Amino acid sequence: MTPKAVPAPRGLKDGDAVEATILGALKEAGAPLSGEALAGLLGLSRAAVWKRINRLKASGYAIEGSPRRGYRLLGLPDKLLPAEIMEGLKTRYLRGPIHHFDSLPSTNDLAKELGSKDAAEGSLVVAERQTKGRGRLGREWDSPPGQGLYVSLLLRPLLPPTEMPQITLTAAVAVVRALSRTAGLAPGIKWPNDLLVDGKKLGGILTEMETESDRIRHLVVGLGLNINNREFPPPLDLTATSLVLATGSSFNRREILQAWLEEFEALYDLFLNRDFAAILDEWRSYNVTLGQTVTVRQGPKEISGLALDVAVDGALLLKQGTGEVIRVTSGEIAPGP
Ligand code: BTN
Repeated sequence: MTPKAVPAPRGLKDGDAVEATILGALKEAGAPLSGEALAGLLGLSRAAVWKRINRLKASGYAIEGSPRRGYRLLGLPDKLLPAEIMEGLKTRYLRGPIHHFDSLPSTNDLAKELGSKDAAEGSLVVAERQTKGRGRLGREWDSPPGQGLYVSLLLRPLLPPTEMPQITLTAAVAVVRALSRTAGLAPGIKWPNDLLVDGKKLGGILTEMETESDRIRHLVVGLGLNINNREFPPPLDLTATSLVLATGSSFNRREILQAWLEEFEALYDLFLNRDFAAILDEWRSYNVTLGQTVTVRQGPKEISGLALDVAVDGALLLKQGTGEVIRVTSGEIAPGP
C-alpha cells in the first residue's frame, strides 16, 4: 500500500514533526505500511524509520511491525503527546512548541525557565504527572499520573504587571467555556480563579510572571484540572472533585486541552484589543462569589464583608459592616462572616 502524505501539524519540533508524519500516514492507511514506503514518503532510510517507530512505541503508541507486511497502528496512548494535541488544534498562535514530560516537578517552573530563555509566546509545557505541583498561596497541587491536566502556557504580553490578574480571570473564563463545550458542564468560578462544581474544587489557575522596568517580561498561566481522578487522598477528598466524579463519565484530556487553548486564544485576543469589560461580564455570569458574605484570609489576617463586585483590574470589592468598600487583590475566600 502506498502511504498518503498527511501534512504534520504546524508548530511541532523537527523530530516530533517526522513522527507526526509517520503517524498521520499510519492513521490514514488504517492498514500496514512497509518500512520502504514510509522511508520513501519521508526521504529517510529504512533504519531511520525503524528508529522513529521505536520512539513512537516508547511513547506508548501500539505499533505492530512485521517484516513481510510492514507497520500497523493498533492503538494510541492515553497521553498528551505533542502530535496528538496539535492534530486538529484550531489556534492561530497559541500552538506550541509543546514540551511533553511523563513526570516533572512543576510545569510552571519549567515554563518560567523557558520564558527567561526567550522561548516563543504560545510555548506549552505539559506533564502526565507533577511531583511538586504548586497551587496558589504556597499550596501543593495533587497531580497523579494521567488523570488530570497539568499544563503551563507561556505568554509575552506587552503590558504592565498590573494587568496580570485580568489575564488570570480570562483564563478561568476560557476553562468554563472549554468544559461547557467538551463535557457539557459549566463550573462556577470562585474569586479569583477557583473552578468549582457542587462547591468542590475541580481546578485552578496559577499565573506567575517576571517583570522588567514596569512591564511584563513573560507570564506563565498554569492550569490544573481534575478530570479522570476517581479518588483523592485525605483531606483533599473533602474539598476536591473531578469531571468523572461529577458526571460519572471519563473524558479525553486532549480534547479539553485543545478546547481551552482555542477558547483562551479567542478571549486573549479580546483582552489585547482592550475589550476586557466583555470578558469580565462573562466572568460575573459564572461567578459563585458575588452577592455572598465572605471572609478573605490573607495569611494571619481575615477580612469579612459582602462581595459586591470585581473591579476592572480584577480586585474583589468587599463592603464591610461599616459601609466602607475595600479592594482585595489576593487571598482565599470562605463563605460566611
Ligand atoms: C490553585 O491553587 O487553584 C492553582 C492550581 C494550579 C495548578 C497548576 S497544575 C499546572 C501548573 N503547574 C503547577 O505547579 N501549578 C499549576
